[in-house]
Amino acid sequence: FHPKDLEGKKILVTAGPTREAIDPVRYITNHSSGKMGYAIAEAAEKRGGLVTLISGHTSIFPPFGVDVVKVTSALEMADAVMQNMDDADIIIKVAAVADYRPLEPKSSKIKKDKVNAVSEHSVSETFSAVGQDLTDASSFPDVNSFSANAALTIDLVENPDILKMAGERKTKQFLAGFAAETENLDENALAKIRKKNLDMIVGNIVGVEGSGFESDTNKVKFFFRDGTVEELPLASKKQVAHTLLDRILAKI
Ligand code: C5P
Repeated sequence: FHPKDLEGKKILVTAGPTREAIDPVRYITNHSSGKMGYAIAEAAEKRGGLVTLISGHTSIFPPFGVDVVKVTSALEMADAVMQNMDDADIIIKVAAVADYRPLEPKSSKIKKDKVNAVSEHSVSETFSAVGQDLTDASSFPDVNSFSANAALTIDLVENPDILKMAGERKTKQFLAGFAAETENLDENALAKIRKKNLDMIVGNIVGVEGSGFESDTNKVKFFFRDGTVEELPLASKKQVAHTLLDRILAKI
């Protein structure tokens, strides 16, 4: 049973990873599963909210009753957020947006025999970027047998910070961001609230067992604009979602 305490409220949630094209068949991405954002969208819908979920590619089904906008890249996600944020009451940005994208995605598949010659250092960077693991000895019998002209560099350019753009554009909306940190979580979270004009940050404590990417549970800490901090025990992403919505409702 869920109270219909979000009845009539418009809630915008972003979730999942972005994919940044290298060429027509390859991309750069991250380990985001979309589970946390989807759990928030589902919880908000069950509580009577009118939910729009802007999602990168994930392998999970969107929750019933939620309006889903599918995107691939950070630039597409930025557009979708700008187009959907003005009439929202609550915006929760859970998506793991790639900070960088290839400067010039190639229009045809990059061929092994046509790459630029560069240093060995770039060889490992390039291959890890396309998902192959050079530390796995079985995938490449002899890494050192690469000649210098097997190397390729990909120039990256910074993506827009969608959360910051939303912070600049917002009027009445309650704006929450997520932040994963390995150190100085409190300091970074509070600084980010000011810098990006947010109402709250959900800090993801990285390195805790059963927390973060792909997990069904999460260990988080809430930071509010007024300086209030609340640390939650390890809980299911569904429970975290409901507690987050409780706290947001108490603030608006
Ligand atoms: O600054 P940092 O990347 O740690 O902030 C994380 C938060 O910012 C998340 O809410 C994420 O959705 C958002 N973000 C964004 N656009 C980016 C990078 C992060 O909206 N380019």
